[in-house]
Amino acid sequence: MSDTAKLIYKGAEYELPLIYGTEGDDAIDIRNLRNQSGLITFDPGLGNTGSCQSEVTFIDGEKGILRYRGISLDALEHHPNFVEVALMLIFGELPSKAQYERFSTSLTNNANLDEDMKHHFAGFPRSAPPMAVLSAMISTLSCFHPEFLELEDATQVERVAARLISKVRTLAAYAYRRSLGLPYNYPDPSLPYVSNFLHMMFSEPYRQYSIDDEVLAALNMVLILHADHEQNCSTSTVRMVGSSGANLFASCAAGVSALWGPLHGGANMAVIEMLEAIHNGNMTTEEYVALAKDKDSPVRLMGFGHRVYRNFDPRATILREVSEKLLERMGRKDPLLSIARKLEEIALKDSYFIERKLYPNVDFYSGIILRAIGIPTNMFTVIFAIGRLPGWIAHWYEQKRQVYTGNKQSAYTVRTKRGW
Ligand code: CMC
Repeated sequence: MSDTAKLIYKGAEYELPLIYGTEGDDAIDIRNLRNQSGLITFDPGLGNTGSCQSEVTFIDGEKGILRYRGISLDALEHHPNFVEVALMLIFGELPSKAQYERFSTSLTNNANLDEDMKHHFAGFPRSAPPMAVLSAMISTLSCFHPEFLELEDATQVERVAARLISKVRTLAAYAYRRSLGLPYNYPDPSLPYVSNFLHMMFSEPYRQYSIDDEVLAALNMVLILHADHEQNCSTSTVRMVGSSGANLFASCAAGVSALWGPLHGGANMAVIEMLEAIHNGNMTTEEYVALAKDKDSPVRLMGFGHRVYRNFDPRATILREVSEKLLERMGRKDPLLSIARKLEEIALKDSYFIERKLYPNVDFYSGIILRAIGIPTNMFTVIFAIGRLPGWIAHWYEQKRQVYTGNKQSAYTVRTKRGW
């Protein structure tokens, strides 16, 4: 097999080297194209362009496959643990018990905010969009942790990752409490990561939030499923900002801004707004689908379609199951779930969606789960950001590549078999 591709332009022939991805997604290396031929390439939206090589995440959009560091998502379903997945994404391998415990301790020790940071919350109007608050406050962290503006080694990366992953949930919970005029809850050092987030969100000075195992598993799974998705809009933003040498806080604050848009992370809010509008009788599901197909209308079926997937988004399939199970165990019915199912059913049979290969994406069912947990709609994209943070950190740290060169599909070894 030749290791080059040939380009013929104005009678001249140019040899362009090939780069081989481990999962068969090979690429033509055009780094010298302009020097050799004077040509540049044109690919708005980068649909045909690998911006980097990466070992973090593999997606096969045609087949609906998503793997983190070679591990399929469904393997992570059985004992969902967001912190374990975060470590794996950032450092490349499933953590040992010692690594996990060191990182968890670091998460616990860094959950609190500097008291001076709390004054910043008071400066925002109560009605401030939580994504604006989150982006600003992540940026503000760089003022309070100047020791992490330049990193020297992997130990420091682990320390700053723990700080950021820990504090982001405190920032998110405080943004929520502030918007309602409620007192902030200090983090509880006896609680692990996700439980502590729920406590900071929902405990009251007069009533401790009671943590339900099903809710915990569902929220862990939501965070895991959002944890990375290779070179999407926000991750590319984090890498782009980081490529200037900008620190992790500044890079991730930019990632939050990129995530905010309704065609990216903001779609999870838009889905619930769409389902609520249908529920409130503004429109039937059939009318809504007709409007989403109408080229004279700007309406889209939110939570449908994906830049990469031309098949089922595997995250949507898992989240649909999680939402159904959670509501059943909680003994609740959510009319929005029935509407979502009906929309899905109509769309999957409709030639418009079939021909364009539009399927439910990660945002289609996530909101139903977050609603059941009691998280308000305007916080949904913030939850996405908390989940995506390990992915941003992993890419910021890797900062080199994305022709997938990571592990081929590999097995998930349960924790007990890894000696813990
Ligand atoms: N409803 C109706 N039509 C759609 C939809 C939709 N949700 N998505 C795509 N189309 C149509 C679009 O109008 C176009 O039709 P035509 O060829 O006749 O002009 C065709 O499908 C291709 O659309 P596109 O915008 O070129 O496709 P894309 O791959 O660039 O866009 C997308 C991907 C996610 C922006 C788009 O599908 C969309 O807007 N979906 C709704 C918003 C959404 O759910 N976003 C969440 C994405 S997943 C979470 C994340 O990663 O953040």
